Amino acid sequence: MDMDISTSVTRPPDLYGRPRSDSFMQKLAAFSDKAVTRLARRSTPPGRPPATEMPAIRELVVATKQQEAEDVVSLRLTAPDGGTLPPWQPGAHIELHLPSGRKRQYSLCGDPADRHRYRIAVRRIANGKGGSAEVHDTLGDGVRVAVTAPRNAFPFAAEASVLLIAGGIGITPILPMAREAARRGLDWRLVHTGRSRGSMPFAAELAELAAAAPGRVFIRPDDESGVPEAAELLSSIPEAGAVYCCGPAPMIDGVRRAFGGSRASALHFERFGPVPITDGRPFELQLGDTGRVLPVPYDRSALDVLHEDLPDLPFSCRQGFCGTCRVRVAHGQVDHRDRRLTASDRAAGAMLPCVSRAPEGERLVLEL
Ligand code: FES
Repeated sequence: MDMDISTSVTRPPDLYGRPRSDSFMQKLAAFSDKAVTRLARRSTPPGRPPATEMPAIRELVVATKQQEAEDVVSLRLTAPDGGTLPPWQPGAHIELHLPSGRKRQYSLCGDPADRHRYRIAVRRIANGKGGSAEVHDTLGDGVRVAVTAPRNAFPFAAEASVLLIAGGIGITPILPMAREAARRGLDWRLVHTGRSRGSMPFAAELAELAAAAPGRVFIRPDDESGVPEAAELLSSIPEAGAVYCCGPAPMIDGVRRAFGGSRASALHFERFGPVPITDGRPFELQLGDTGRVLPVPYDRSALDVLHEDLPDLPFSCRQGFCGTCRVRVAHGQVDHRDRRLTASDRAAGAMLPCVSRAPEGERLVLEL
């Protein structure tokens, strides 16, 4: 998908600090679903509202699994019959439906022109919720896994000059962007940071890119150069260039803060993991007719709290855009903070508890 989005932090940031408006993300999600997938209905767990539009899911096969860095493996996924796969553009991701029932999203980091293989890379997260460990430990060569068609919440608009910043495994959406920038003859730079060279994936491919485009690729391991300041990361941006940044939350936050003092004209970013809770207030969740009430403190998400009682409640992005964690609220006023639900979804009681909350002291009664 190739979309002219030109999102920039010169627009007012939204409630969660991302520069895209709710309506923009809703339209983008809807467009993505329609553009690259057949619409399909999923089976709906009891007590949860039916999904109205979900990407088609297909079974793919792990063709190769390769160690890319410390704790990072890449998987190449193909159709069982070797057929062509739905198209994608730099910045797109797919969602893996793992055998345990966990769902996890991973950026595509291969070649969009290769219509027969998707490539993803996964860093094992120590003390995580088990998704990355499951990928590492169970998805070997020949294993089949259910995968959604690509969607793109981080599209590359191919501005004339771009600075691409990747932190660690954040190189996955950035690498296809760099190749696309080179292919289009843009004025581009790429900065890849990480703990150490050994922890940073795709070193050989980045070296090839650097050899083909001298002076455009900068590898910056912390153990050689120190932890970078955001202003330093932005220093190589050409005048009025656009910044694309993917990495851990502190890097994103630092780049956002430094953006205003830079020469850049637009900032696009994708963060890992849950969005930080902004202006959180304590409220309560009641689990259906059980009468059981769970307090949600100001600094935890409703999803985190629900997971203690309902460990099987599915989730994926934890950023309010995939819709996986959807629940139905029977009573109570929801403070919707997602980018996925439509007005009619909300009117029907749908809520995405990974980001959405309630006013202070409110009790939300969930249908479970
Ligand atoms: S987990 Fe994706 S919207 Fe909640």
